[in-house]
Amino acid sequence: MPGATAYFGLKDAASFKKGDIVLVSGAAGAVGSAVGQLAKLWGAKQVIGTAGGPDKCKLVVDKYGFDACIDYKKFDTEEKMTAELKRLCPDGLDVHFDNVGGHVSDSFLNLVRKHGRVAVCGSISQYNDAKPPLCPSPWVKVIYTSVRIQGFLVYDYHEHWQEFLDEVHPLVKQNKIQYEETVVEGFEKLPEALNGLFKGANVGKMVVKI
Ligand SMILES: NC(=O)c1ccc[n+]([C@@H]2O[C@H](COP(=O)([O-])OP(=O)(O)OC[C@H]3O[C@@H](n4cnc5c(N)ncnc54)[C@H](OP(=O)(O)O)[C@@H]3O)[C@@H](O)[C@H]2O)c1
Repeated sequence: MPGATAYFGLKDAASFKKGDIVLVSGAAGAVGSAVGQLAKLWGAKQVIGTAGGPDKCKLVVDKYGFDACIDYKKFDTEEKMTAELKRLCPDGLDVHFDNVGGHVSDSFLNLVRKHGRVAVCGSISQYNDAKPPLCPSPWVKVIYTSVRIQGFLVYDYHEHWQEFLDEVHPLVKQNKIQYEETVVEGFEKLPEALNGLFKGANVGKMVVKI
């Protein structure tokens, strides 16, 4: 499921094109790690990830082949994140595969090029907010950059599942797509595993073995 989410989200929701400069949040996670690898295989000019902490950022670059990964806990405001993104991508960005929301998404909109695209996959930084924001803040930026923002659910693509399997399964078999799993043993550990997602306890897909 995370692989299909990455595949359809990047290809369709983000309308990925060869030569795009791509920002992937949640880059060490199950979906994000696959997005970055597919973007590289499909000819992205540059792929930047964001993840929590230096170890995860190192994994994103060393194992998944992203060009760079920014620790969002260090660059923890829109201003800091925008400055770091600008340093890495001085000409701006084309695509944001958004797993997280929050200040990373706002920073992308500060630097997006004309006709950029956002695939809104998830918003994990806001799932537990007691008071979610009333509306996204950046509509003015969206207007003057003609950005297209497309939300999606992987199950929207149910009828196209075979296309995903035909293209991506061989890439996994050939080790061209790498992945990680965090396995927690025991049914009683389900709540702990679920809560762990919000603390970054997992690397790759969180799996509960029962
Ligand atoms: N649209 C769809 O059909 C669809 C399908 C599957 C998943 N999703 C969504 O896609 C996103 C990624 O899913 P996944 O399965 O690949 O999960 P995941 O990235 O493997 O696990 C969750 C990760 O989110 C990060 N995180 C947690 N709290 C955060 C916060 N406050 N700010 C920033 N990052 C935070 C943590 O990584 P760090 O250690 O890096 O912080 C954590 O490891 C989720 O938002 C999920 O809901 C959507």
